[in-house]
Amino acid sequence: MDTITTIRDLKSAVSAARAKGQTVGLVPTMGALHIGHLSLVKRACEECDFVVVSVFVNPTQFNNPEDLRTYPRTLDADIALLSENTGANVVFAPTVEEVYPEPDTRQFAFGPIAEVMEGEHRPGHFNGVAQIVSKLFMFVEPDKAYFGEKDFQQLAIIRKMVKDMDFKIQIVGCPIVRYMDGLAVSSRNALLQEDERAIAPIIQATLRRSVEEMQYKMTPAEVISWVTKTLNGIEHLEVEYYSIVDGLTLQPIENWGDTEYVVGCITCYCGKVRLIDNITYKVSE
Ligand code: PAF
Repeated sequence: MDTITTIRDLKSAVSAARAKGQTVGLVPTMGALHIGHLSLVKRACEECDFVVVSVFVNPTQFNNPEDLRTYPRTLDADIALLSENTGANVVFAPTVEEVYPEPDTRQFAFGPIAEVMEGEHRPGHFNGVAQIVSKLFMFVEPDKAYFGEKDFQQLAIIRKMVKDMDFKIQIVGCPIVRYMDGLAVSSRNALLQEDERAIAPIIQATLRRSVEEMQYKMTPAEVISWVTKTLNGIEHLEVEYYSIVDGLTLQPIENWGDTEYVVGCITCYCGKVRLIDNITYKVSE
């Protein structure tokens, strides 16, 4: 596995693979890699001949400077993890100056799917995600790119960007990886104190209870209120939002029968750590 830091070297490695007739997969990450990322990389390696994993903490998607400053950066460990556990061919770990020699002034407009949930609570976040992901797509020109379903809204926006910009790239959404206790695997978990780590699984457990016990006895608004009150009643947890939405348009639903695909998306602080997760209430058969 090669570690590459310049766009020029990246393009020449991909061209060499293409010259051999190989298909190319891309797994964009911000590093601090964990088993969730490894599942994406392994899937990419199963489906593509040549796999690039990018490790880049993208400053343009952070609207909170403290969040950017404290985001875990563990490049050496990331490289070791990838080379020992996956068949990835290249780690692309550029500097900020390499990716953004000039400030990126592009403004993306994704319409209503980007205006709710994370779009509402993290202004500019998805514009930054689109800036970096579109750049990576232009550098690598992969056949397939892999993203986790934990970032449910991000995945929907990337699919829209691919359509809007006419990228010839298949976006592969991969299932959330969870610990045995139900907590979604995330780089941010490393920032949790021991007592916070112990209660963080209650977020998913509460969502699961809302699916199993409440869904048709209560309206979506009542379920939102129950989930929010339950979690806010637990020390260290504070819900930023819980939304129950159409899984395709990401717009809130009023009745369970409004659509065939219903997903609940949550952002909940556990201490100072902002955790996101989601759950499917129903999906069309
Ligand atoms: O999901 C992430 O880790 C990031 O948002 C991504 C897609 C790598 C872009 O920086």
